[in-house]
Amino acid sequence: MSALLEIRDLYLEFKTSRGRLKALNGITFDIQPGEVFGLVGETGCGKTVTGLSILRLLPRSATITSGQVLLEGTDLLALSRSQIESLRGSKIAMIFQDPSTSLNPVFSIGSQIERVIRQHMQVSRQAAREKVRSVMAAVGLPDVERILGSYPHQLSGGMQQRVMIAMALSCSPRLLIADEPTTSLDVTIQAQILKLLRELQKKFDVAVILITHNLGVIAQTCDRLAVLYGGRVAESGSTRDIFNQPQHPYTRGLMNAIPHPGTRGKKMSTIPGTVPTNPGAMTGCSFAPRCEFAMERCSLETPPLYPLGENHSSACFLVEPKP
Ligand SMILES: Nc1ncnc2c1ncn2[C@@H]1O[C@H](COP(=O)(O)OP(=O)(O)O)[C@@H](O)[C@H]1O
Ligand SMILES: [Mg+2]
Repeated sequence: MSALLEIRDLYLEFKTSRGRLKALNGITFDIQPGEVFGLVGETGCGKTVTGLSILRLLPRSATITSGQVLLEGTDLLALSRSQIESLRGSKIAMIFQDPSTSLNPVFSIGSQIERVIRQHMQVSRQAAREKVRSVMAAVGLPDVERILGSYPHQLSGGMQQRVMIAMALSCSPRLLIADEPTTSLDVTIQAQILKLLRELQKKFDVAVILITHNLGVIAQTCDRLAVLYGGRVAESGSTRDIFNQPQHPYTRGLMNAIPHPGTRGKKMSTIPGTVPTNPGAMTGCSFAPRCEFAMERCSLETPPLYPLGENHSSACFLVEPKP
């Protein structure tokens, strides 16, 4: 199967008052059509910036210094502003953590979804309205007529997020990027939204990139995943392989930190130390300062992603093939 999206060796830096902050340092992964792909890592690892890079929604201070983002073979980084704008929403859509800030408080839900549809598709008002109704029903919003006339504050967080998903899917994109879509919701609602994201493949034939800091969320939702650290892929592979045989010490650390029922709300990280603020300025593996297995070499050389059989790889010298 040929990939829907391929990110190849993506480097990105921010200009800051304290100099260049190298946030992405060679991100590489691919997304297959219709799969749910997890991007996971602690806060500051580069998940959001990676998502925004795909759609080129980056702040002005950010520059992609090298790499490619290929959508069905076309490099999105080489498209003109207007080309990328017409692609946003129609081929790739994105939703964020807090739906209430993405919805406009002064317009009804119906008019907001309708506007999105008419921005991207040449359809009559009537056809747009029908599309709105069908997509709202498909994301499990009950009592569609009432919700169409509602304003955002009249809906619960979970309902608002369903509205955002409906809006994102209204133009039949091939890829939905969901950045911490359930982080602001409580646990039962979270589970419902994750179940919905899981079902979208069948209903809409759309691939999903699910961005989360919570590896527990990935387990129940994703087909494959990439663990990010310091703006690089530490490990990637099928959810099964990674959960059964995590290879990278960072992945193992995240696994030990998966919150169990009753511990919700506690800070997730139990890995000693903190994420580097400028990982691209470091020599060697950016996880080395926190790694219990670090060798001298780890602070001198950057480990490449070593393939470990089909579809599984780890960027750690511990898995380097013996000569
Ligand atoms: N607008 C910005 N200006 C400067 N640095 C930024 C900006 N946005 C993000 N960063 C930095 O880029 C890195 C990756 O951030 P981000 O992608 O938001 O992480 P995550 O989503 O994994 O929590 C962090 O070091 C963060 O501080
Ligand atoms: Mg983020």
